[in-house]
Amino acid sequence: MTVDTTQLNRGRVFFGHSDTLWLFGYGSLIWKTEFAYHERRPAHIQGWARRFWQGSHDHRGTPDAPGRVVTLVESPGSTCHGMAYRIDTGTLGPLDVREKNGYLREQVMLHFAEGDHTEGLIYLATKENAAFLGDAPLDAMARQIAAAHGPSGSNRDYLLNLASALDDLGAEDRHVFELAARVKARQARQKK
Ligand code: BEZ
Repeated sequence: MTVDTTQLNRGRVFFGHSDTLWLFGYGSLIWKTEFAYHERRPAHIQGWARRFWQGSHDHRGTPDAPGRVVTLVESPGSTCHGMAYRIDTGTLGPLDVREKNGYLREQVMLHFAEGDHTEGLIYLATKENAAFLGDAPLDAMARQIAAAHGPSGSNRDYLLNLASALDDLGAEDRHVFELAARVKARQARQKK
């Protein structure tokens, strides 16, 4: 089911005193930066795991055939690698619209690859949002991702771009890499 979190996010002001803030990207924000930023630094967050558990009815799927995109689930001991951007606070407005299907701004501690840390923001889609799909067998998720398309392109490209960006960062993520391998294997079998 689709949902619209744009209005809710306008009230979620965590760094009101500051002109800029750090935004941590763990999904398309790593490789699809269609927004202005001042700095970009590899970073990670602790205690969270990236999962293809959020439905995409508006970007990588449709309301009738949703795709799957990433969100984060709490996972003590896990590390999620991504890219942090220092942006003007005003840049959040268009991002709230882009990520309106269930994502809410949340404050987290970011750890930069160089060793320093700071508070920042993530967009998080919890199981309470109507577009949340949750866990499923990896093969079922791979089948859904291989088939889904939406206004922003194929769900397959979203997954493979993310896997490639994580690879470039030297980041380990078994969930993403295993899904990417299964989607590629499905398509190789279909071409035969
Ligand atoms: C991200 O890349 O961090 C992201 C992108 C869209 C929605 C949520 C997170």
